[in-house]
This record gives sequence, C-alpha cells and structure tokens, in this order.
Amino acid sequence: MATKVTITGAAGNAGQAVGRLVAEAGFEVRMADMVAPAPDLASLGEFVRCDTRTPTDVRRAVAGADAVVHLAAWHSAHRPPVSDATIFAVNVDGTFNLLEACRDEGIGSLVFASSMAYGWSGVYAVTKVLGEELCRAYHEMTDASVAMLRYHEFIPAPYLEFGPRLLRNGVDRADVAAATLAALRATLDRSAGLFCTIVHTDHGMPPEVVADFRRLGPGWCEEHVPGARGLIEKYALALPERVEQHDLTEAARVLSWRPSVGFLDFLRDLKERDARGEDVSALRVPGELPRAG
Ligand SMILES: NC(=O)c1ccc[n+]([C@@H]2O[C@H](COP(=O)([O-])OP(=O)(O)OC[C@H]3O[C@@H](n4cnc5c(N)ncnc54)[C@H](O)[C@@H]3O)[C@@H](O)[C@H]2O)c1
Repeated sequence: MATKVTITGAAGNAGQAVGRLVAEAGFEVRMADMVAPAPDLASLGEFVRCDTRTPTDVRRAVAGADAVVHLAAWHSAHRPPVSDATIFAVNVDGTFNLLEACRDEGIGSLVFASSMAYGWSGVYAVTKVLGEELCRAYHEMTDASVAMLRYHEFIPAPYLEFGPRLLRNGVDRADVAAATLAALRATLDRSAGLFCTIVHTDHGMPPEVVADFRRLGPGWCEEHVPGARGLIEKYALALPERVEQHDLTEAARVLSWRPSVGFLDFLRDLKERDARGEDVSALRVPGELPRAG
C-alpha cells in the first residue's frame, strides 16, 4: 500500500510543485488547503478543504496519513499584504493545531516549511522561529522524525529578475520541491531524526569568484556558457558584488539532496531564448526556470 502524505498549503506556489513531485514519486497525496488546487492538480490526489486555524479541519486533513508536509502559511510577499495578525494566526496557531492533530494521529514523519527569513526582524520572521520551536517540541514529545527546511526565495518574479536572484537569496522552486521530497523520505526512514537545513542554490563557483563576483563573475560565466558576457550586458542583468553561498554539505549527507539549478542554467536558458529572438522582457516565472519552448 502506498505511503499516505498530507500536504498543507497544497494549492500554493510550493505546494503545486511539491504535490506533483511527491505524487510522481509514488506516494498517495492528500492536498489540504483553504482554497481548491488548480484543476490540473486534481489528478494528484484527494483534496481536503482545511483552514489550519480550525482544529477539526486539520484533524480531518491528517487522518490516516503516514507523513505530513506542512507548507500552509502566509508570508510577507503577498500583494496586497496580509495583516500581521493573520500571518501570526495561520503560521503559529495553525502550526500548533496541525501538530496537535498529528500527535493524536500518531504521525511520526513531518516536514516543516521554514524560511531564511527566520529571525526577529518582523512578525513573519518570528512565526518561523516559533514554528520551528513547535516542531522541535513535537519531536521531543513524540520522537517523530522532523525536518525543518529554511527555503530561500522562490516567489513568482519577472524572468530577468529571477535569474540574478539566484546569485543572492533566490532558489529555484524545482530545488525547493526536490529538497522537500528528500526530507520527506529521510523522515519516513527516520534517518533525519530532528534536522534543519537551508535550501538554497549552489553554482559550483570557486571561492574567489563568489567573493568578487561583479568583477570575476562575467568571465567565469563566459567560460561555462559562451556568450554569457554579452547576455549579461545586453539584458543589463544586475549582478551582486559577491554571491550568497551557504554550506549545504549536511543537507547532502542527511537528505542526499543537492540543488540542481544555478545561475549558469539561467544563462543557458536565456541564451536559447535570445537565439530564438524571444522577447523575455515581459516574461514572468513562478519562481522556477521555465522549460524552453
Ligand atoms: N515563497 C517563498 O519565497 C518562500 C520562502 C521561504 C519560505 N516559504 C514558505 O514556504 C511555504 C509555502 O510558501 P508559498 O510561497 O508556496 O506560499 P503561497 O502563498 O503560494 O501558498 C500558501 C498556501 O497556503 C494556503 N493557506 C493560507 N492560509 C491557510 C490556512 N489557514 N489553512 C490552510 N491553508 C492556508 C494558501 O491558500 C496557499 O495555497 C510557506 O510556509 C512559506 O512561509 C516560502
């Protein structure tokens, strides 16, 4: 029998990509969200309408599940903005309700969507601190295997902003989904215990290029993608002084996950579009490199 996975926030940006990947991997998916997922996601599995602020909703959402991927949250990037009070209620009370329901159901495998915003700089940031603390407590109280993933940014953006963002705080949504699936597997086979990692990009750059990207980056890109220097100039890509880069070796060791999409992939994609004469100035992407064509 297939392993049953409830995904909260399944209709959202991460939820769509995670739901597809988890279903493709052979899990039985239950999508829990306040709003119904897009029609093209209907075949992934059952949809349970659920407001995580309501305990009976979350109990229904996790009933019979073997594992839960908890993505449902409001963040600060929504326009028009969501109030701080709603962000707090959904992200903190909603997480508390979900964990209570998981405990009643005896769920021993949990993946929690945290954020690089984690910290004390605002209400959203604090909700991720409290969310992680609640997850730690869940692990302590139940011995469940819990993975907390501090995603970098994958909000929908203009294509020409998305690419350079990968050099800063950006990550491709496909990498977010792959890391989440890897974390799900690691919690199910209990190799994760209590685990927390950053989910970010890795460009495979030498340290001197990372540290001095604006000066050395175009040449390094040109070596790997001929024509890159011209593309950077033609599209006035805003390059950072230095590249944001984190040590992801623990994620590779514990989750067997490594990011697969970096700035060079963006440049290769841009090169193909440019060669076809495509106008990319108005192209928007869902926080993920689009398939060419
Ligand atoms: N997008 C990013 O750049 C980013 C970065 C770091 C962390 N995260 C985290 O990743 C997760 C997913 O983010 P996203 O960008 O896909 O968000 P999203 O806004 O696209 O999706 C969130 C989903 O949660 C649902 N939701 C909201 N309130 C709910 C409630 N009370 N009950 C049930 N469902 C509810 C929404 O309907 C939506 O479908 C969130 O936990 C977010 O904090 C996102």
